Amino acid sequence: MSARVIVREAEVDDGLADLALLDDGERARAGRKRDAAPFVTGHALVRRTLGELLGEDPASLSFERRCTTCRSELHGKPSLVDVPGWHFSLSYTSSLAVVAVAQGIDVGVDTEDLTDADFEGFADITLAREELLAFEHLDGQDLLISRARVWARKEAILKATGHGLVVDPSEVLVTGPLDPPGLLAWRADEPAPASVSLVDLDLTTANHRAAVAGLTDERLEVVSG
Ligand SMILES: CC(C)(COP(=O)(O)OP(=O)(O)OC[C@H]1O[C@@H](n2cnc3c(N)ncnc32)[C@H](O)[C@@H]1OP(=O)(O)O)[C@@H](O)C(=O)NCCC(=O)NCCS
Repeated sequence: MSARVIVREAEVDDGLADLALLDDGERARAGRKRDAAPFVTGHALVRRTLGELLGEDPASLSFERRCTTCRSELHGKPSLVDVPGWHFSLSYTSSLAVVAVAQGIDVGVDTEDLTDADFEGFADITLAREELLAFEHLDGQDLLISRARVWARKEAILKATGHGLVVDPSEVLVTGPLDPPGLLAWRADEPAPASVSLVDLDLTTANHRAAVAGLTDERLEVVSG
């Protein structure tokens, strides 16, 4: 058995033409961003993808947010209003947006720009002690690719559960960057997901890595395009 996850990506469009697809709340949030383009591209990608899958006008879709930690409706994992059973997740950097959509299972997607993984304290922030070994003999581009891959795996899991970075990523142990993706251990105080399936995504851009997680014990079948 496998669970289908539809994944789409879009290059960030600096033209902001997609603002017309967004609702008032999204436009207001875009207006508060120093660079609105990634936000606008990302949210338009969510609307286009879900609109196509549901057979609805993308601009007519409504979303709500709910925080797994404090139950606030002002932030947290987004979901569709009045469309039960459909789950999605969005991730974007300054140049790329990625969305994952699934039916019946919570999903989380994360993409990381390699250059964002190029900082001194990466291991302290992201990795558990046992995870350090797999990075020891890596340097240059290989090191950045490995960091971005593992970071995306961890954050994809935390976006699927809805915790986000409220959970310390170093308490979510995943397989090493050269090994097939998987969750090895959950050490956070927050309740662990019953099951997690994880896949590294093949993106069209070489300067990013990405992963998608589904809260299921079924294998994820990723459908791109
Ligand atoms: C969610 C989070 C991991 C995203 O990290 P990021 O790398 O900066 O951003 P990404 O582009 O990958 O993802 C952003 C998108 O994730 C989604 N998202 C936001 N919170 C989420 C959550 N808790 N779980 C899953 N997805 C979430 C939204 O679609 C968001 O896009 P938007 O901000 O434009 O609406 C990070 O912002 C986070 O941990 N936030 C939680 C902080 C929090 O909730 N604090 C208060 C707790 S009481």
